[in-house]
Amino acid sequence: MRKPFIAGNWKMNMTHLEAVNFMQDLEYKYKNKNNCEVAVCPPATALKSVKTIIDSDNLEVKLGAQNMYYESRGAFTGEISPEMLKALGVEYVIIGHSERRQYFGETNKGVSRKVNAAFNTDLKPIMCIGESLKIRESGKAEEFVMDQLKECLVGIDEEDIVDLTIAYEPIWAIGTGRTATSEDANDMCLAIRRKIEEIYNKKISEIIRIQYGGSVKPFNISELMNMSDIDGALVGGASLEVDDFIAIINYQDSSDT
Ligand code: PGA
Repeated sequence: MRKPFIAGNWKMNMTHLEAVNFMQDLEYKYKNKNNCEVAVCPPATALKSVKTIIDSDNLEVKLGAQNMYYESRGAFTGEISPEMLKALGVEYVIIGHSERRQYFGETNKGVSRKVNAAFNTDLKPIMCIGESLKIRESGKAEEFVMDQLKECLVGIDEEDIVDLTIAYEPIWAIGTGRTATSEDANDMCLAIRRKIEEIYNKKISEIIRIQYGGSVKPFNISELMNMSDIDGALVGGASLEVDDFIAIINYQDSSDT
């Protein structure tokens, strides 16, 4: 059984002071009836403050970063190394988000270097893949995503891959209010799982967690989470509102009813 995993990607929102307020409110209202794994991924400037609150309140929430560089140290002005994240108590790191690819020129090759560097530092990557609207409309979405997957996984061995989370995020669904239908999202997650089986083996394909991301909201989370191959969600906008984020964590599991 794969443990459901819901992660909030705050993107470039919240100063560390706002993050502290958010976390205090989250702690006060926190409820996790599905016992899923929960992570928040604040901007780098708020990681330390968020970690302090998680630790002092014993909050069952993991800490994730939104990006990192693949080198350990050196003359890379403005970059943050995996070791620096690890030293702050970060457990997860989002890698290859479509906004990084779109605005900062990240490539599959760069993503694979970062995923490798994350594993070398005992960080667990949340690796994002997904197609644009143009590709979806051309009917080549699956082919495109499978190529992305293969290229991003170069150099990742069987031992590490089990700790990888894959986030399938169709770009046209991110921040647009337009979600993929749960069937379409599940079909792609299933195709990803089959590809993992092909590259690695069946056991690994059954362990690995695949999240869906793109306009996940309290009203659509339950349907998505009850699909066979969607194991969690990477949530952007709705993770910035404590009540919405809590509602998402507490989605309706159909096996409960
Ligand atoms: P969204 O963002 O939920 O605001 O669409 C998701 C993401 O980019 O990870």
